[in-house]
Amino acid sequence: MLGKKIIIPKGYPFEGKILKEEISPEMIHARNVQIGKEISNTYKNKNPIIIGVLNGAFLFMADLVRTLNVEYEVDFIKISSYGDDIKSSGTITLLKDISADITNRHVLVVEDIVDTGMSVKFLKNRLEDARPKSLKFATFLYKNNVSKLNFDIDWIGFKIDEKYYIGYGLDLKQKFRGLPGAYTINDKG
Ligand code: PRP
Repeated sequence: MLGKKIIIPKGYPFEGKILKEEISPEMIHARNVQIGKEISNTYKNKNPIIIGVLNGAFLFMADLVRTLNVEYEVDFIKISSYGDDIKSSGTITLLKDISADITNRHVLVVEDIVDTGMSVKFLKNRLEDARPKSLKFATFLYKNNVSKLNFDIDWIGFKIDEKYYIGYGLDLKQKFRGLPGAYTINDKG
């Protein structure tokens, strides 16, 4: 737990409410180490390209790759569905494409959250067009009751409920991305 109460400032959604820690930095680290072992086993001698989905995945990606004991390359893609809103716009916009040539390569996409599932569906379609040798997905958070997917996410950090999550890459109108744990909004705050 962080030492002090975090209150949502003026001008932000849920203004005046207090953040409630749901997943601590220690829990995140322990889970990252577990997932990292599995990913290392999967990609031994395969030199995968690990693609982080900006902006949200930057912390999870950075922590996850540091638990790996295999060779890998990194790249990034930037898409947007939420913008500064707290609800998905329903349309995915590609803001920055990957630079790597992923044809015939093993590819692992790293997301911060699978919410409706629209973003990962978009990414799967787009990246499959380049005919990678394999395509897998890892996400820090997965919204169990919301995500409607016709394929599996290979590595899930934590399955969560329908609340709005903030921290560890996830923002509230671009704020709070750097918090080391994952938080929800305390209704009583
Ligand atoms: C968030 C998150 C995922 C996506 C998940 O991105 O990073 O990419 O939404 O939601 P979905 O499963 O409903 O598609 P956002 O558009 O907020 O951009 P950001 O990563 O820059 O915060």
